[in-house]
This record gives sequence, C-alpha cells and structure tokens, in this order.
Amino acid sequence: MNQLGKNPFHYMHFMLERISISRWVFVALLFFACGFVSGEKGDGVVITQSDFQALKAIKQDLIDSKGLLKSWNSTSNGACSGEWVGITCVKGEVVSIALPWKRLGGKISEKIGQLQSLRRLSLHDNFLTGPIPNSLGLLPNLRAVYLFNNQLLGSIPLSIGQSSGLQTLDLSNNKLNGTIPPNLSNSTRIYRLNLSFNSISGSIPGSLTQSPSLTLLSLQYNNLSGPVPDSWGGNGGKVYKLQILTLDHNKLNGFIPATLGNISGITQLDFSQNNFTGDIPNSFSSLPNLTYFNVSYNNLSGIVPSRLSEKFNSSSFVGNFQLCGYSSSSPCPSSPPQISPSPSPEVLTNSQRKHRKLNTKDIILIAAGALLLVLFLLCCFLLFCLIRRRAKKAKNGKKEGQVEKAVSASGGEVESGGEVGGKLVHFDGPFVFAADDLLCATAEIMGKSTYGTIYKATLEDGNQVAVKRLREKVAKGQKEFETEVVALGKIRHPNVLALRAYYLGPKGEKLLVFDYMPNGSLASFLHARGPETIVNWPTRMNIAMSITRGLCYLHNDENIIHGNLTSSNVLLDEQKNPKISDVGLSRLMTSAANANVIATAGTQGYRAPELSKLKNANTKTDIYSLGVIILELLTGKSPGEPTTDGVDLPQWVASIVKEEWTNEVFDVELMRDDAFNSGDELLNTLKLALHCVDPSPSARPEAQQVLQQLEEIKPEMAAVSGDDGAKAGGGD
Ligand SMILES: *[C@@H]1O[C@H](CO)[C@@H](O)[C@H](O)[C@H]1NC(C)=O
Ligand SMILES: *[C@@H]1O[C@H](CO)[C@@H](O)[C@H](O)[C@H]1NC(C)=O
Ligand SMILES: *[C@@H]1O[C@H](CO)[C@@H](O)[C@H](O)[C@H]1NC(C)=O
Ligand SMILES: *[C@@H]1O[C@H](CO)[C@@H](O)[C@H](O)[C@H]1NC(C)=O
Ligand SMILES: *[C@@H]1O[C@H](CO)[C@@H](O)[C@H](O)[C@H]1NC(C)=O
Ligand SMILES: *[C@@H]1O[C@H](CO)[C@@H](O)[C@H](O)[C@H]1NC(C)=O
Repeated sequence: MNQLGKNPFHYMHFMLERISISRWVFVALLFFACGFVSGEKGDGVVITQSDFQALKAIKQDLIDSKGLLKSWNSTSNGACSGEWVGITCVKGEVVSIALPWKRLGGKISEKIGQLQSLRRLSLHDNFLTGPIPNSLGLLPNLRAVYLFNNQLLGSIPLSIGQSSGLQTLDLSNNKLNGTIPPNLSNSTRIYRLNLSFNSISGSIPGSLTQSPSLTLLSLQYNNLSGPVPDSWGGNGGKVYKLQILTLDHNKLNGFIPATLGNISGITQLDFSQNNFTGDIPNSFSSLPNLTYFNVSYNNLSGIVPSRLSEKFNSSSFVGNFQLCGYSSSSPCPSSPPQISPSPSPEVLTNSQRKHRKLNTKDIILIAAGALLLVLFLLCCFLLFCLIRRRAKKAKNGKKEGQVEKAVSASGGEVESGGEVGGKLVHFDGPFVFAADDLLCATAEIMGKSTYGTIYKATLEDGNQVAVKRLREKVAKGQKEFETEVVALGKIRHPNVLALRAYYLGPKGEKLLVFDYMPNGSLASFLHARGPETIVNWPTRMNIAMSITRGLCYLHNDENIIHGNLTSSNVLLDEQKNPKISDVGLSRLMTSAANANVIATAGTQGYRAPELSKLKNANTKTDIYSLGVIILELLTGKSPGEPTTDGVDLPQWVASIVKEEWTNEVFDVELMRDDAFNSGDELLNTLKLALHCVDPSPSARPEAQQVLQQLEEIKPEMAAVSGDDGAKAGGGD
C-alpha cells in the first residue's frame, strides 16, 4: 500500500478513485443495508424517537474514556445521517452498531432491546463488563453478535437462542459462566458459535450436534464436563456443514463421538486436554478433509487408526498412556493393528490380548456360543423389522415433511441474505461468512477496471478477501451469469486467483469474492517501489515462469482465453508467487463491455497488434501479452508509459537489440551483481520474449512451449517451483 504513494502516477489514480467514491456510495447505500464502504453509513432519514432514546441510554452506560463517542451528541438528526460513529441505519432505524477496538468500558444497556431492527452488534475488543443484556436475545432481526475480547460476566441469557435468524455468536474470551443454553441452536441459520476462553460449565447440549447449518463450533478453554453427545450429523451427515470443532482444554469425559466421522466436511478436530476415554473412532479415518487433529492429553486407549497416525505426528496423540501405534516410541504390545473391520475396536484390542492363551476346547466353545448369538441376533433383527415397518406406516406423512425441511435449510452452498433479499453462493475455500458479513465488512477501494471496482474487505473474524463489484449493465443477465460464474468457481491452479464466492443482490448487483493478495499487483510491485527495494533475477524469473504455468493451465486444461493479461492483472501472494486475476471475467460480461476492455488493453501496451482488426482475443493474443510482461520484468519499464519516440515496449526493445546494444535493455538492477552468472539466462529469456511479441501471430509459440523454454533456461527453478506448484495445487 505505502508503495503506491511513491509513484505520482499511481497516487493520482488513487485520488481519482477517492473522488469518485462519494457518488458511488450514494448508489451503494440504496443496495446495501450496511453500507459496504466504510465511513458513509447514513441513510438521510431522521432516526425514530424510540431508537434515539435507546442509543442515548446505551451511551450513558458505556465508559468512553477516549471520547470516541463524541459524535453521539444530542442532535438527533445526526444519528442516522452518518455522523454518529459506528451506527448504520435503514429508514431511520438502527440496523448495526459497530464499535470494535474503541477502548469502551462500562456495560451494555438493556435498552438495546428497543432497537427493533438491530441486526448486528459488534463491540469486540473493548473493556466491557457486566452481563449480556437479556433483551438482546429478544430482537427479532438479530443476525450477528460479536462481543469477543471483553470482560463480560454472568451467563449467556437463555433468550439468545430465541432469535431464529441468528447466524453468528462470538462471545469468546470473556468471563462468562453458567451453562450453554440448549436452544442456542434453534436458529436454522447459525453457522458460527464461539464461546471459547470463558468459564462455562455443564455439559454440551445434544441440540448443538443436530444443527445442519453449524459450521464452526469453538468451546475450548472452558469448564465443560460430562460426555459429548454422540449424535452428530443426524442420519447421513453429508448435508451437515460442520468444519471446525474445538473442545480442547475442558473436563469432558466419556468416548470421543464416532458419528463425527460421518460429516465429510470436517477439517479440524481438537479434543486435547480433556478426560476422554476409549478408542479413537475408526470412522475418523475416512474424513477426507481433515487437516488438524488433536487428542493429546486425555485418557484414551487402543490403537491409533493408521490413516491418522500417517497424517498427524505424535504431538496430536501424546499424553494418553494407553494409546499406542502413533510413533516408533509408542509401539502396540501385541500383534499388528486392525486385522479386520471391527464394529468396536475396544473389543478387538481386548480379544487380541487374550488370543495367545486359547486352546481347541475354548475355540469349540466360542464357536458354539457364536452360533447361538447369531441365531439370537437374527431373531431380534426380524422382530425389529416388523415393528419398524408398522411404526413407519403410522408416521409416514409427517416424517417425509421433516426430512425435506432439513435438506432445504442446509441448502447446498447457497445462503440468502434475508431482508436484503440477495443470494450468496460459496465455492470451496477457507472462508466462512454470511451475506451480511460481506455486506457489512469494512471495505477499502483497491482499484478500478472496466469490469468494476475492487475492494479489500475485512470480515469480522479478521479474514480479508478481495471483492470485485461488477459495474451495472456490463454483466450478463442473471441466469447466464450464474451458469458462467459457477464454472469459473471451479478453476483451481496455484497461479490463478481463486474465485471463492459470488453474491447476487436483490436489484441485480453482483459481487465476486476472491482470495486477497497482500502484495498487490505485479505492476505496482515493479514500478511503484522505493529505490532501496531490489527485485532480483530469480524472483523475476519465478514470476515469469509461474505466470506462464497459470496461462498454460488456462489455455490447455480450462480452454479459457484470458483476453486482458497485464501486469496489473497479475497479483502476488505472501511469497511473491504470482496469481493471474480477472480470469474468465469476459464470460460474465456483455459483448459491448468486452469490446471496451479490448480497447483499453490496447492503450496499456499489452494488446497484440492484430486485435485492432479482430474482435476476439485468442491464445496467440494472450501470448503477446505474456511476452510484454516478460519484457517488463527484464527491462523494468512499464509498457503503459509512453516512450520518448512514441514506440511501444516491444518495438523499443527490438530496435535496441538490432543495434546490438542488447545490454542496454535490461533493468540496471539486473546488471549490477548477477550479470556475470545470469547473462545467458537474461539473453535467452529476452529472445523468447521477443518471439512471443512477434507481430505475426502464427510465429508466436504456444504457452506450453514458452514454459518449456523457460524451464530449459533455468532448470533448477523448473524442479523447485514445479514441486511447489504440485503442493499448492494439492492443498487447494
Ligand atoms: C455533535 O457531533 C457533531 C458530529 O461529530 C459535531 O459536528 C457537532 O459539533 C457536535 N455538537 C456538539 C454540541 O457537540
Ligand atoms: C474462537 O475464538 C477464539 C478466541 O477469540 C479464537 O482464538 C478462535 O480462533 C475462534 N475460533 C474460530 C473457529 O473462529
Ligand atoms: C477422569 O475420569 C475418571 C473416571 O473416568 C475420574 O476418575 C478422574 O478423576 C477424571 N479426571 C479428571 C482430571 O477429571
Ligand atoms: C482413565 O480411565 C480409567 C477408566 O477408563 C480410570 O479408571 C482412570 O482413573 C483414568 N485415569 C485418569 C488419569 O484419569
Ligand atoms: C507436528 O506437526 C505440527 C504441524 O502439524 C508441527 O507444528 C510440530 O512441530 C510437529 N511436531 C513434531 C514433534 O514433529
Ligand atoms: C495438541 O494439543 C496439545 C495440548 O493442547 C498441544 O501442546 C500440541 O501442540 C497440539 N498438537 C498440535 C499438532 O497442534
């Protein structure tokens, strides 16, 4: 970000964007109840008397030592006009209070229950004490409550569970005691429940294990006791969304619930530092997405299922004196583990221990016993079937209705924005958020393009995402749009920016959610850095090679033409690995908008010359753009900047090479120290880049060939980054 300021051109660009925000905000507020752009949250309607009185009472109970609530003064007109810090209104009623990190003390007034339209309360990271107001739970529209990192006392009010629209409740890191209200999971929408780091006691209510929407459940560091109900995921488990379950550092006992093994989306399980007994359920072996597992410091016994001991190291299992088989220092006493699929591993281990003492007589006795047992079980089974059939006949109609409801409540990946009336669809990815989280996120403009505006949005849980708000009228109609966007959401490659979700607003507004790349674009990385920041040759080569890999994947595996590949459309992650962005966006746009993009790409110096006649981009025009980017990396010059004699970057490079002053084209930085070692690499890369920008499309190589040649130029990098790519691809 600070790099942006160093280049006057970028700074000006930035200011221009700032200036145009004000007009944009006006439009945005008509759509988004929570604003979406920080700072401007008023809706111009005078606040209702009842809400105004409530806010005054709330302020009175808070201790505002830093005077950050000064704007909450007695002129009521200001409350909903955007003047009162942290307040968002719709039609003169408060829908959101957001005052995190404001060093507020005091307590939360019961009068908050007067704010009948309140949907979001975010007061995390303050010094609030006192109880959570009971009236909060009675608010009919409450969606999200973020009160973590305070010093709240008392128990969680029973009323909280009654707000049937509640989506997020984060009360972690307070001083709460009492028990977990059993009706907390009454909401069919609740997806995040975090009560960790408190002093909550009692047992875990069975109802929590039945919620189909619950995705994150954190109860760690409390005083919970008793067994954990073993009824997770109802029947089937597949439609249940649970991903993260952390129960560590409590006093829970009994068995580790085996039914968790039915919920295939689970990624994290932490049971450590409790008093669990029995075996680790074999069902956990088949959890395909499990990336974190910890059962250390319990009282577990038996053999660790081999899949788990292969995937997780001993620190996940230590501190269980009778648990074995997870490392070479914990060998199992008797013969090899897991001879056959056993319904109860505990029985298996016991019988194994006795196995050696058996003689023929015993075996005959056991066989006879087993036969009797089988016959007995068969009788039971028949009887059970008979009873069940009768029961089913009696209850049939009702039961079917229930099943249907459960399925639609969990609704695949779709979540609707309720009042807002929008629709949020998630693809795979690390983020969990609801439409409101997105629309209420603090957003900062990062850039603008023909397709729309890009924001960096910080969600309430601290995660950051990049949000592209597509311009009105440039996108296709909803149906066509959705077909295309779903296909784009499946594209996964380490060098292509992943589309994680999309949002369709009630008035047709469209948001795309991507991974946020902290290092910004390649353009700003190269051209808007201080003189002290040096980008060495291996870094540049890695960038060139990785972009080529991404493009190769797009052309060959996805059959996608990028059409607008520029250094501004290549973003860098923490390790400065490039990710191609704006992939396939042209498919979401009307053809008029696309023609516009082609026109502007030309002005930026990445456009193949033949595109002035052609209407559509193709693989060869992409290769031309790739060649320009490689030239940009080699020369350190921006293709967008006009040169003195009016030629573009490829022409300039070609003219200098022709006059055999080749070393003059390279960025001086590259010539400083590594020149001797990398001279050939630079030259060969330059030749390849010039080949890519050949005026004749048919003379240009394919992406695959470019990659091959780059790998020949720097073979050591081919191996290393190839490995990285495979790893990142696998983990994605
Ligand atoms: C009330 O707050 C507004 C907004 O911060 C400020 O402009 C105004 O001067 C304040 N009025 C009083 C009486 O403090
Ligand atoms: C729950 O809250 C704690 C403390 O605030 C935090 O460390 C943890 O990551 C949260 N859990 C989830 C799943 O977000
Ligand atoms: C763990 O449970 C056992 C009984 O299963 C009990 O005897 C023991 O005191 C418990 N330990 C702790 C630390 O709660
Ligand atoms: C471990 O569990 C057994 C019962 O399974 C119990 O007898 C024993 O006291 C427990 N040990 C500890 C240290 O809690
Ligand atoms: C076990 O793996 C975790 C990460 O999964 C790592 O942080 C830790 O250092 C490893 N511990 C040992 C003893 O190898
Ligand atoms: C498992 O939990 C224990 C105790 O809570 C912790 O010390 C250990 O580092 C954890 N292991 C992993 C792999 O995180």
